[in-house]
Amino acid sequence: MRQMYCVFVVVLFVSTAINAFLTDKQGLILVPSVAFRDRSSTKSPADWTLYNQGWYYEENPIQSFLMEKSLELVVRQDLDSNRVKMFTAEGKDKTDLCIGGLSRPMCAKTDKDGRLKNAFTMTDQEVQAFRRSDDSRGKLLFETSVANKNIKETGEIFLCDDEGITFISDIDDTIKVTGVTSTTQTLINTFSGNFKAVDGMAEIYQYWQDQYNATFAYLTASPDQLYPFLREFFDRTGFPSGSAHMRHFTWLDVNFITFFMSSSYMAKKTETLKMFLQNTRNRRFVLLGDIFQKDPDIYANIYSQYPDRIAKIFIRKYADDNEGQERLEALFNDIPREKWGTFEKGADLPRNVL
Ligand SMILES: *[C@@H]1O[C@H](CO)[C@@H](O)[C@H](O)[C@H]1NC(C)=O
Repeated sequence: MRQMYCVFVVVLFVSTAINAFLTDKQGLILVPSVAFRDRSSTKSPADWTLYNQGWYYEENPIQSFLMEKSLELVVRQDLDSNRVKMFTAEGKDKTDLCIGGLSRPMCAKTDKDGRLKNAFTMTDQEVQAFRRSDDSRGKLLFETSVANKNIKETGEIFLCDDEGITFISDIDDTIKVTGVTSTTQTLINTFSGNFKAVDGMAEIYQYWQDQYNATFAYLTASPDQLYPFLREFFDRTGFPSGSAHMRHFTWLDVNFITFFMSSSYMAKKTETLKMFLQNTRNRRFVLLGDIFQKDPDIYANIYSQYPDRIAKIFIRKYADDNEGQERLEALFNDIPREKWGTFEKGADLPRNVL
């Protein structure tokens, strides 16, 4: 592993220099986002604040080639070079990205990492007009394009109104088999083969979506560079679509192994949960995560601040993990017993959660 890190550092400098001579392939990833009622709006019905999030990048063939060679030492089969390409691509900074189809021009510049993170407001009337006629769940589609380039993508924004119910779910080892407790397994399950779903999870999520007219938000420590592959996974395995709240990897994060293994995602996840709770009035939330990282700690903390808004907490663990059960009982000591539960497979989860 140690040699791998050294290779990456050298590679970074060499490849940036050589890369300029190779054909550059650019692209735009839009990560589904959310919209909340604008808290400063005095109108009735109130205006909306919509968030757009994405990443404008350029592939780096050399860096990608070298990372692929290093990964081959660990991931011996089915290494997906497209995932490596996205992971080693470089963000394009200070570029105007513009949302189309609005009554006024709406452009924002990418930040130093090539990320787009901007908010804009629309009246309720504009929002309703934007909803597709076949839309029953409050999803808006927006086209975002790179200024002066023929690059555009369609992004989704999910309306998160004051009433209703949202299921907020972790991804790795909650709905997708990742094996986060092992570095090797994480790399193999991240960079090779098809992403594999935890048994029965897509079915129960679909059921809850229909039963409760619920929206879904996926909260994950994975980097947004991998969003296109997660999307393929959601669609292939039948998970409801929803907003995604991800981290972003840059090579300044030292190396990608520590990025995957670090617990710095705790603050980011907490911040996202608070964003949902603070921007809605009576909406209720069901939180789903796993015992393998810090989800129980994050969720216990959020519960203590918003007990009335958290309808249920479900934590994935192995049924025979008694130590884990004890850890949860201690952590969730102040949470009424009927408000939390554990599961190993989708079939272990109750169909009625309210
Ligand atoms: C379902 O939720 C959407 C918004 O999330 C709302 O517009 C719609 O009216 C709801 N449908 C029902 C049947 O409650």
